[in-house]
Amino acid sequence: MGLQYVGAIVLTALLGQAVGLKANSLVAPKGAEVLTVGIIGDYGWTGWVPIPDHFCREVLPRLTAAGIEIPNDIAKDCDPDDKLAIGNATALQLDTSAYVGQICAIKNCSAFISVGDNFYESGVTLSSGGIARFEQAWVGMYNEGAFDKTPWYQCLGNHDIVPGQAGVDFQTKVAPLYDDRWYFGTKGLPYYTYDLVGADWTATFVVVDSDCYLDSYQKKSSVYKNSYTSACHNNTQVQTDFLNTTFSNSNATWKFLQLHHPYASATGNETDLAPLIKIVEKHNAVVLNGHDHCLGHFFLNNTNFILSGAAGFPEAAACNNGTAPGPYARYLGANNLTAANGFVTMDISRDTVAVEYYARDMQFENGDLFPVKSDLKPSYTFNITQKAK
Ligand SMILES: *[C@@H]1O[C@H](CO)[C@@H](O)[C@H](O)[C@H]1NC(C)=O
Ligand SMILES: *[C@@H]1O[C@H](CO)[C@@H](O)[C@H](O)[C@H]1NC(C)=O
Ligand SMILES: *[C@@H]1O[C@H](CO)[C@@H](O)[C@H](O)[C@H]1NC(C)=O
Ligand SMILES: *[C@@H]1O[C@H](CO)[C@@H](O)[C@H](O)[C@H]1NC(C)=O
Ligand SMILES: *[C@@H]1O[C@H](CO)[C@@H](O)[C@H](O)[C@H]1NC(C)=O
Ligand SMILES: *[C@@H]1O[C@H](CO)[C@@H](O)[C@H](O)[C@H]1NC(C)=O
Ligand SMILES: *[C@@H]1O[C@H](CO)[C@@H](O)[C@H](O)[C@H]1NC(C)=O
Ligand SMILES: *[C@@H]1O[C@H](CO)[C@@H](O)[C@H](O)[C@H]1NC(C)=O
Ligand SMILES: *[C@@H]1O[C@H](CO)[C@@H](O)[C@H](O)[C@H]1NC(C)=O
Ligand SMILES: *[C@@H]1O[C@H](CO)[C@@H](O)[C@H](O)[C@H]1NC(C)=O
Repeated sequence: MGLQYVGAIVLTALLGQAVGLKANSLVAPKGAEVLTVGIIGDYGWTGWVPIPDHFCREVLPRLTAAGIEIPNDIAKDCDPDDKLAIGNATALQLDTSAYVGQICAIKNCSAFISVGDNFYESGVTLSSGGIARFEQAWVGMYNEGAFDKTPWYQCLGNHDIVPGQAGVDFQTKVAPLYDDRWYFGTKGLPYYTYDLVGADWTATFVVVDSDCYLDSYQKKSSVYKNSYTSACHNNTQVQTDFLNTTFSNSNATWKFLQLHHPYASATGNETDLAPLIKIVEKHNAVVLNGHDHCLGHFFLNNTNFILSGAAGFPEAAACNNGTAPGPYARYLGANNLTAANGFVTMDISRDTVAVEYYARDMQFENGDLFPVKSDLKPSYTFNITQKAK
């Protein structure tokens, strides 16, 4: 059964290339006065099996000293901080998936908008291990109630591209054929656009792979340097032009750039993304991002940045321990001990995009490190009324 199943997927993927077989991905319903979507990021921890300490601490240095090249996924799977995190992160992803399901059942979410880091630690490929992870961290994790038949508009994060092209291919080409809730455009590319269409409004979304923009990922020592990222880093103009053309050709009421890394952040602004942000500013668009493991709202140069990176392992330092580093940080879902798990919803209509931040009451063994009195209500809200141009 197991082997036949794998065989069927390989065959389907090959057929997909050979005869142009298209995924029957679900899309959000059209024609609503108000459409609610959930923005979710940095979630896919469950099932990751770190490499044993013995290898990471003793064997790996020996191999390196002997001049043996260490594959990036093995180096990444030895990350000491993430190895420590996996126990809590797995429990937190599970609890947060239930919380997201609960809020979305109340709010009637029609789609999920992912801002990447779908599979820690080193992405997934079309392999036995990759299939197991896809099942555990996503298919089986988000599978009932509000998640049933609800599309996820997907996006790549830094963890997703560690395996290079094979990792990108799984998420852009294999996953849409595997599960019809997994949406990745119609061309099998790591960047794409889609429209959400309401009764009397339209919203244009552009998804890009921000991994391609970071100079730091091209350093020789970076686990993110591979032939996929090197090639797309060489040619970020393709994605920048795609954003420019798509926004320029769209007369939508609202425009969104959906990507993983933060241009505006409480820890590190990724200024390499500036060419994209210039276009966003020109069109009065809104930025949706993850990467920092918390919830945040930043307002910079008349532009809203919505951070939703808290559906897995939240980290207080990623939100500067809850202390706004400047007036551009309007909300940070963290305190001096921890950051909140949670996600963000947008109620999109003709006159307003109502943005709500749902922070989960964080019960730990030794108490409640992130108390939220009533976590079925948003902890923070703001409205976008400035339309796109
Ligand atoms: C949820 O929202 C969608 C889109 O507006 C709508 O088609 C559907 O009827 C709503 N479901 C409920 C139970 O309100
Ligand atoms: C895991 O959670 C426990 C509380 O349940 C906490 O004491 C511990 O520091 C956490 N570990 C990490 C790595 O965050
Ligand atoms: C990137 O561009 C440089 C210079 O144009 C070229 O030498 C190199 O081969 C390119 N790398 C990739 C991976 O395309
Ligand atoms: C965007 O496209 C327009 C033409 O459609 C062009 O004039 C402009 O220079 C482009 N901007 C960027 C930043 O590429
Ligand atoms: C955008 O243009 C199309 C036709 O080009 C039109 O049908 C639609 O109503 C316009 N939408 C908005 C929001 O102006
Ligand atoms: C990030 O950008 C904001 C707004 O420009 C700035 O105030 C802040 O100092 C920057 N943070 C860092 C770490 O550079
Ligand atoms: C804000 O906009 C101005 C004018 O376009 C630009 O010079 C500046 O770099 C922008 N600042 C940031 C932090 O993006
Ligand atoms: C946040 O808290 C951590 C742990 O208490 C501390 O190590 C770190 O310096 C703090 N960061 C800031 C920016 O205050
Ligand atoms: C964290 O903040 C609380 C008040 O919100 C304060 O009582 C506590 O001492 C602070 N802890 C640390 C480690 O700064
Ligand atoms: C946002 O707009 C909605 C109506 O679309 C309104 O009910 C709500 O009070 C507004 N919230 C804020 C924070 O202004």
